[in-house]
Amino acid sequence: MSAAVDASAFSKDHPFPACLTESRLLNKPGSAKETRHFAVSLAGSGMHYKAGDSLGVFPENRPADVAEILSLLGATGDEPVTPAMLRLPGPLPLREALTSRLALAGPTRKLVETLAGKATDADEKGKLMGLLLPESKEVLAAFLEEREYVDLLAEFPSAKLTPQELTDHMRKLMPRLYSIASSPKVYPNEIHLTVAVVRYATNHRERAGVCTTFLADRVQVGTTPVPVFVSHSHFGLPDDGTKDVIMVGPGTGIAPFRAFVQDREAGGATGRNWVFFGDQHRATDFLYEEEWNTWVASGRVARLDTAFSRDQTLKVYVQDRMRENAAELWSWIKGGAYFYVCGDAKRMAKDVDTALLDIIAQQGGLDAAAAADYVKQLKKDKRYQRDVY
Ligand SMILES: Cc1cc2nc3c(=O)[nH]c(=O)nc-3n(C[C@H](O)[C@H](O)[C@H](O)COP(=O)(O)OP(=O)(O)OC[C@H]3O[C@@H](n4cnc5c(N)ncnc54)[C@H](O)[C@@H]3O)c2cc1C
Ligand SMILES: NC(=O)c1ccc[n+]([C@@H]2O[C@H](COP(=O)([O-])OP(=O)(O)OC[C@H]3O[C@@H](n4cnc5c(N)ncnc54)[C@H](OP(=O)(O)O)[C@@H]3O)[C@@H](O)[C@H]2O)c1
Repeated sequence: MSAAVDASAFSKDHPFPACLTESRLLNKPGSAKETRHFAVSLAGSGMHYKAGDSLGVFPENRPADVAEILSLLGATGDEPVTPAMLRLPGPLPLREALTSRLALAGPTRKLVETLAGKATDADEKGKLMGLLLPESKEVLAAFLEEREYVDLLAEFPSAKLTPQELTDHMRKLMPRLYSIASSPKVYPNEIHLTVAVVRYATNHRERAGVCTTFLADRVQVGTTPVPVFVSHSHFGLPDDGTKDVIMVGPGTGIAPFRAFVQDREAGGATGRNWVFFGDQHRATDFLYEEEWNTWVASGRVARLDTAFSRDQTLKVYVQDRMRENAAELWSWIKGGAYFYVCGDAKRMAKDVDTALLDIIAQQGGLDAAAAADYVKQLKKDKRYQRDVY
């Protein structure tokens, strides 16, 4: 960690109350997605970052969700509580605990047990006891998966919980991390983020991702303080600017690669940049399209391969583009290129990993074990890095 980084008084334990200076929808009208570009001002914080780091954001829950829980508890919000998970020296008002300290999602089996013990209505008690039977494990998991705390309070009104009893069941509201989409060489006093806003429905209720809708809906640009900290990462560019880099970042996975290209341009890196990007439709979901086109036109981005998955009958993904360009990709890797992946961990990053392994095996004439060893060495040499979530 550099002296400059140490110099800041702000950290995860003491976040900086930042302001948003920009909030802009990146998708065009007609898109099924809501991906936003945010600019966060670091002015006055003394905070420093590098391309590849993430920004931690402490969100607040939706006031409507808090109000509904208060109403179901029959509480005003002023009741003092000391939630077990927060390990606080003293009490805080219930409304504050529910707004900014506790997660309103993720009810547990333990809560169902408590409600079963307290329910006075026979039907409610029967349903709760049924969920707790040893043979109901999967049913209970599916039941809880579809529900937040508010659903349980609404469905079992006879099981009266006190504010303290409810909050003792709740977990801490955690900060969310976002890959930084800007370079400090270009934006020393601000940080850019590329955020997919989470909205969905379960159990006939509209749900809102806590942090993404906090940033998109509840924070006013220029006024609302947003507590943030820089999470320093091992994910990052080689010091040697002559090295080539290959970046695979579909969807919001593109964020750190916008930062990488900005950084290499500003730093005069002479190595080539190859970007793979994918999303649903070219017309509406080509994130930062003009910037990529400018970088391709100037030669800063040597290659840009896109995979718009829903523009044709058959899905096309970034790993398909990698396979189509296997010989070229192998020649870059053989020549010392660094390979980066960012975005969805569950499916995309696994499939990209498989594609990379296959390309190395085929193009390098290696058997599966030798290709796996080759990839292992790439990782050891920090030439294969992932920032996946
Ligand atoms: C290192 C790192 C970097 C990241 N970078 C980025 C980034 O650059 N951009 C970005 O957008 N995100 C990024 N993320 C993810 C980000 O941290 C958050 O997890 C994400 O924004 C969701 O947060 P939220 O609070 O809005 O949603 P939450 O309130 O945490 O809700 C998300 C949860 O909702 C549930 N859910 C979501 N969709 C559905 C659905 N359709 N049906 C049922 N349940 C559903 C799932 O349980 C999911 O886990 C990154 C994560 C990490 C760890
Ligand atoms: N719950 C899930 O299953 C799931 C899956 C992906 C992302 N997410 C989360 O949703 C949020 C928003 O995601 P995002 O906007 O960054 O984009 P994204 O949903 O990851 O999608 C970006 C592009 O990747 C494609 N894609 C889907 N599966 C893929 C695979 N196996 N290999 C390669 N590409 C694949 C998508 O195609 P299609 O959509 O047309 O298939 C789309 O074109 C993120 O927080 C992410 O973690 C959740």
